[in-house]
Amino acid sequence: MSEHVSDSAEWQALQGHAEKFSAVHLRDLFDSDPQRGERYAAEVAGLYVDYSKNLVTDEVLAALFALAGRARLSERITAMFAGEHINVTEDRAVLHTALRLPRDASLVVDGQDVVADVHEVLDRMGAFADKVRSGEWTGHTGQRIRTVVNIGIGGSDLGPVMAYEALKDYSQRDIEVRFVSNIDPTDLYEKTRDLDPATTLFIIVSKTFTTQETLTNAREARNWLLATLEDDAAVAKHFVAVSTNAAKVADFGIDTDNMFGFWDWVGGRYSLPSAVGLSVLIAIGKEQFADMLAGYHQVDEHFRTTPIERNVPALLGLINVWYDTFLGAQSHAVLPYAQYLHRFAAYLQQLTMESNGKSVRLNGDRVTYQTGEIFWGEPGTNGQHAFYQLLHQGTKLIPADFIGFSQPNHDIGEMHDLFMSNFLAQTGALAFGRTLEQVRAEGTKPEVAPHRVMPGNHPTTTILADKLTPSTLGQLVALYEHITFTQGVIWEINSFDQWGVELGKVMANQLAPKLTAAEPPAEDADSSTNALIKRYRAARGR
Ligand code: F6P
Repeated sequence: MSEHVSDSAEWQALQGHAEKFSAVHLRDLFDSDPQRGERYAAEVAGLYVDYSKNLVTDEVLAALFALAGRARLSERITAMFAGEHINVTEDRAVLHTALRLPRDASLVVDGQDVVADVHEVLDRMGAFADKVRSGEWTGHTGQRIRTVVNIGIGGSDLGPVMAYEALKDYSQRDIEVRFVSNIDPTDLYEKTRDLDPATTLFIIVSKTFTTQETLTNAREARNWLLATLEDDAAVAKHFVAVSTNAAKVADFGIDTDNMFGFWDWVGGRYSLPSAVGLSVLIAIGKEQFADMLAGYHQVDEHFRTTPIERNVPALLGLINVWYDTFLGAQSHAVLPYAQYLHRFAAYLQQLTMESNGKSVRLNGDRVTYQTGEIFWGEPGTNGQHAFYQLLHQGTKLIPADFIGFSQPNHDIGEMHDLFMSNFLAQTGALAFGRTLEQVRAEGTKPEVAPHRVMPGNHPTTTILADKLTPSTLGQLVALYEHITFTQGVIWEINSFDQWGVELGKVMANQLAPKLTAAEPPAEDADSSTNALIKRYRAARGR
């Protein structure tokens, strides 16, 4: 076996396919196979996945499956689910899938029954949420909680805010959840300015409990609370913590009885189904949170047990590799036709880009190929009136995922049917376009005709589910987690560390005193940064 997957005959075979592929058009692929729309479709749990409008053929798919074999994808899946320390640079297991194992399952990792641990925390979260939802948990002055403010950033924010927004229709509407993440003080200011401290509960979420943004916001939130309630004892009724670091939580002044733990084998961007999801659990209640976990688990089981050729997350991950590495795509659009999923692309950005934005292989060698596509998107139909022009007639290859639901959460007149006709129309227009002959036949003026040609051949995957429910959301997130994993395996990178964000954090801590010092600081940074500091200080009167 060659040293790297990219040295293999399987890799070269795909390069060969890619060279030939510029001549292939989706119109021809559909014309030559009338069954393509049904043949290139699969189901996982409640998700119907139509991948027929992708730039793939039976030969390309077979070559991708061969590549997966060469990269030992099946073995890597088994290793992840078994709790092997596949996060080699941090010497950790990667076990977010254990967070959604049913209570009667068993998984012993590093000598510890993780399922029992997971359910112990879930039970405590459920009992706490019951009290907040029923009004039994009151604030310091005896009033019930009306607003929950989640303070966290990255994985300690993006998952909860995405899921809260996605499942708002399932939430208890007399409790609002807000999210503060940015160290820009306007975030905390705007999210608290109209709140009554006596009815506000803060959840401080930080895996490490060392993150500058979160701890600074948490300290200021405590000042804001105490400015009104004027009694340190109020903190116990208005602050709870979610973390893996009990010592730091105690240092901060939060009673560890009010702490919900998780484990180092849960990466931040994979942590929504852990205690990090506490705000979501309070919003939707423990039964519906359990439905979300069950949805995740259905897709986990499919990924764990299904041969690669029929394994939907593996298939979609391999197709992404095909675009990114072999056809040269740089980005990937995710276009949910569901307003409730308006933070889904932002969530996926961390999941996919923090996971696979790497350029060094597991053994330390630099990669020699493209990794980590740039994920972006907005809900339809808003995106149609903003950036779809570039998708339809621009020069770039941008695979896009269209996510839609047959049943609306709110049936108002004909709106949902109109909405979904847009969903269906777009993937057709992107794939098949409109030829010059068709445009001319419509009587378009000759000089305008070329501008109205729609080249087509723009690839899309359609994911259609019956309804956006807690379970469906869990399924969708698990699907993308495993797609991301698959890509990381083929690229031979560690999808579970994030060393790239460390340097900026260190430098910010070093620069902070220079902004605030009474005397002009030493100009020992680079000339650009020195000049910017001078200008900033002048504007601040320093
Ligand atoms: O930005 C890097 C990161 O470590 C993310 O991976 C993580 O989700 C985020 O910071 C927040 O970290 P923590 O939960 O430890 O505060």
